[in-house]
Amino acid sequence: MKVVLIGSGNVATVLAHKMVKGGNSIIQVFSRNTGNAQELAASLNATFINDITLLNPEGDIYILAVSDDVLPILSKEIYLDTKLVVHTTGSASIHILEPVSKNYGVLYPLQSLRKNKLDAAVPLLIDGSDEKILETIRSFAETLSPAVEYAGDEQRLKLHVAAVFVSNFVNHLYALGERFCDMEELPFNILYPLIEETATRLKEFSPNNMQTGPAVRGDGVTINAHAEILSAYPNLQKIYLELTESIINFSRVK
Ligand SMILES: NC(=O)c1ccc[n+]([C@@H]2O[C@H](COP(=O)([O-])OP(=O)(O)OC[C@H]3O[C@@H](n4cnc5c(N)ncnc54)[C@H](OP(=O)(O)O)[C@@H]3O)[C@@H](O)[C@H]2O)c1
Repeated sequence: MKVVLIGSGNVATVLAHKMVKGGNSIIQVFSRNTGNAQELAASLNATFINDITLLNPEGDIYILAVSDDVLPILSKEIYLDTKLVVHTTGSASIHILEPVSKNYGVLYPLQSLRKNKLDAAVPLLIDGSDEKILETIRSFAETLSPAVEYAGDEQRLKLHVAAVFVSNFVNHLYALGERFCDMEELPFNILYPLIEETATRLKEFSPNNMQTGPAVRGDGVTINAHAEILSAYPNLQKIYLELTESIINFSRVK
């Protein structure tokens, strides 16, 4: 398909490279920042614009991969009549694109994407304004990823919540652990095998059955010793004690 990309950030960049690999061509990249548009367009052999009124009318699909807050604003600035237009946002309704075109949908990557990491496996959650459009989006999505699933607004939003727990929050805990190691002059990288083992075993076992550590063992002496060390870091101590309580309560109702 001929693709017009609106946005040049993490999602636009990763999906664009998968689209080209899947046999599609990117004909134009729009971005507010000319440098970003130019950089992405050059890597895709596409043209670039920074004026939204100059969108190429020859596209088969228009992909809005812009910040959540900008999506409702741009949706009122673009009119594409019957052209297929999709957004890539987990939390926005499919209907936000109603003013843009009669044919619209969602292509939501359920993955944490970064511009400089193009090879991530990307499950795609799709939706369409009617059955025919959904099937067109499905055929297109299958050129990008072997994992394509339908999800309506509510299901997509709920999966987005789950994604925040398993990715954003977990990564924040890594960042806190790294900062603690830095402050205490400890080598964070000695924890890499532990991080890898904890994530990898989820492919075989439910996390519900894999909890280890002092909280699930009810090891109060160790918990108190940890809390004492963390008294120098009140924010870390608060998070440590809240998560400890959550693990204890969770294991009680199992
Ligand atoms: N990254 C992820 O892991 C991920 C995963 C799934 C879904 N999503 C969703 O995908 C969408 C894009 O995310 P992203 O990570 O690609 O974001 P990003 O890297 O921050 O890129 C945001 C894009 O929005 C554009 N933009 C920002 N403000 C604008 C404005 N006022 N007018 C026009 N364009 C504007 C930026 O243009 P400039 O470069 O010109 O500033 C940039 O191209 C978001 O809705 C996000 O929720 C992200």
